[in-house]
Amino acid sequence: MAPDDAQIINMSKIKRIVPLFLCLSVWLAGPAQKAKNGTLASKPISQDLFGIFFEDISYAADGGLYAELIQNRSFEYNPGDKDAWAEDRHGWDAFTAWDYTNNGYGYGNISLETKEPINPNNTHYVVVNVEEEGSEGVGLINHGFDGIAIKENGQYNFSAFIRLLKCSSMSFEIKLLDKKGDTIGLANFTVNSTNWKKYAATIRAGRTDDSCSFAIVAKSKGQFALDMVSLFPQNTFKNEVNGLRPDLAQLLVDLHPKFMRFPGGCLVHGDGLGNMYCWKNTIGPIEQRIEQKNIWNYHQTVGLGYFEYFRLCEDVGAKPLPIVAAGVSCQNSGGTWRSGSNGQRGLPMDEMQHYIQDVLDLIEWANGPVTSTWGAKRAEAGHPSPFHLEYIGIGNEDKQTDAFRERFKMIYDAVKAKHPEITVVGTVGPSPSGEDYDLGWKFADQEKVPVVDEHYYEKPEWFLSNSSRYDSYDRSKLKVYVGEYASQGNTLFNALAEAVYMTSLERNGDEVRMASYAPLFANKDHTSWNPNLIYFNNTAIVPTANYYVQQLFSSNAGDKYFSNIISFEKTRDSLVGGSCVLDTKTGDVILKLANAGNLPVTAVIDLSSFGLLNATADQTVLTGHPDDQNSFTNPRTVTPSYSSVTVRRKFGYTIIPYSLIVIRLSRS
Ligand code: AHR
Repeated sequence: MAPDDAQIINMSKIKRIVPLFLCLSVWLAGPAQKAKNGTLASKPISQDLFGIFFEDISYAADGGLYAELIQNRSFEYNPGDKDAWAEDRHGWDAFTAWDYTNNGYGYGNISLETKEPINPNNTHYVVVNVEEEGSEGVGLINHGFDGIAIKENGQYNFSAFIRLLKCSSMSFEIKLLDKKGDTIGLANFTVNSTNWKKYAATIRAGRTDDSCSFAIVAKSKGQFALDMVSLFPQNTFKNEVNGLRPDLAQLLVDLHPKFMRFPGGCLVHGDGLGNMYCWKNTIGPIEQRIEQKNIWNYHQTVGLGYFEYFRLCEDVGAKPLPIVAAGVSCQNSGGTWRSGSNGQRGLPMDEMQHYIQDVLDLIEWANGPVTSTWGAKRAEAGHPSPFHLEYIGIGNEDKQTDAFRERFKMIYDAVKAKHPEITVVGTVGPSPSGEDYDLGWKFADQEKVPVVDEHYYEKPEWFLSNSSRYDSYDRSKLKVYVGEYASQGNTLFNALAEAVYMTSLERNGDEVRMASYAPLFANKDHTSWNPNLIYFNNTAIVPTANYYVQQLFSSNAGDKYFSNIISFEKTRDSLVGGSCVLDTKTGDVILKLANAGNLPVTAVIDLSSFGLLNATADQTVLTGHPDDQNSFTNPRTVTPSYSSVTVRRKFGYTIIPYSLIVIRLSRS
């Protein structure tokens, strides 16, 4: 039976079919959910409701999703990457993660140089002077991001830019070294250019090691300049060049996100004007990209740049949602959240036209034909077809000041005028209420910004008691993007509070256009922020209970919401949430039942209006103790379990305490 509302109710036909299907199907004929015109009352749900938020925070990109194994590959780290108060500032410089090596009684020295770099964007490199090569050579060792994890028989692609100084030929070895310094992978090559030239080799790992290091040594006397030392596993996500860690990327695929926001977060508007994220600095050959301080107190290579972000969106089937700064820097610039002062600065007005052009160029780069200036650059990078950009965000939870408003309007007006097909997402401050929220909404309303980005990091109790938040939003006005939210923890209880809330996002899927939990990734030993959706180290991944909640909602999305299908016997409003959606494409009816309380709750489910459905439905259950959380020692403490359940046209379902249940009914 076609899943259209109009076709759902046809009582006379249905009654005749019932006996035939009695054993197999649930026949549902009740008129309870009918709207006045005889069809089942439903509300549309945004097709882009549940997505993901990616920011390079907590080493999510470098040392995380981005599969580069060498840390500080181009010697661009510098003390300015860290705020003055950062405790680990000491020793953070061009040699971070590197050591000089002359094991085997070699003799030489190294220096950091800037004269005649490989290009003006990549100014630092190292000169190694080898006076005596000894038995093991002289050069550098890199320790990766807390060590380099390799797999037995894995192939690793090495490349580096090298220039000979004061000699015409030198022989080199590259090695994977275990903790004792024993070689577990080796390759060699010869250098004979006195100009910068890229050299490449493949190195095979003789065995698995969780924490090895990488050495590049000269095995003959001479002097050479070295830059952009890179080592990638050949096994990247989809085997892509300059690619991603497959295990982490697969977690994103499994989330079935409808969109992906990038590159942040605060990273977008940056720590002061000079630190704003400029997308043009992040495309093209990696050695030509402009690296910079990461607002989260480390360094960003932008090896994972705009091309890679868009490619990832395409790979995971998510619409790209790039966010650009609104021409102002983060109000917390200079670590001012500690001092409480306002660090927001606006770009000088005489720079705004240039800035606006960059935003327009981004749209052309993503969508323009290969014959356009920026479309041609996308094609050059290997993607002649457009990326189908539909959304662009302007600003990230900016303080609502005149400086912000003036610049936002300039960018917004220019995008609207040149690209009316693009939906602009505005911003309404960092909190679910308060001055920036109020002023932000007022301004967005006045400017008729189609969608605004709300953020909230609140306690689970807040989520439980605010699930009617959007019920009263004025549908005739702007739509909402809940761009960042999390309930301040990774326990099952946190995840269930979010689940209850997410049933309300589905209920309000006509008003809430998009929603993304934040942040997405964190390296467990370098967390700039907690909680996160996924924790990882070099060898392990820990999807949290919150991850599974996101996954269950996103992979069971619908495009129509039906109220009154589910009712709860005892009213425990704030701890319980339920939603019933229809996925028109498959015809599946999907029930989500969330119970964040310690008592069972009976839901009465009346499917009478849906026509013929299979009596056996797929059931997914996420449950446990409220304090349970996944960890590196017990990564599977909270995971969904899958089974089937028998349903009837009208039935009571007991939702066990502390659980999220998804019941998926298919058409018979
Ligand atoms: O998600 C972490 C941070 O929280 C984001 O960078 C910022 O937008 C918000 O304050």
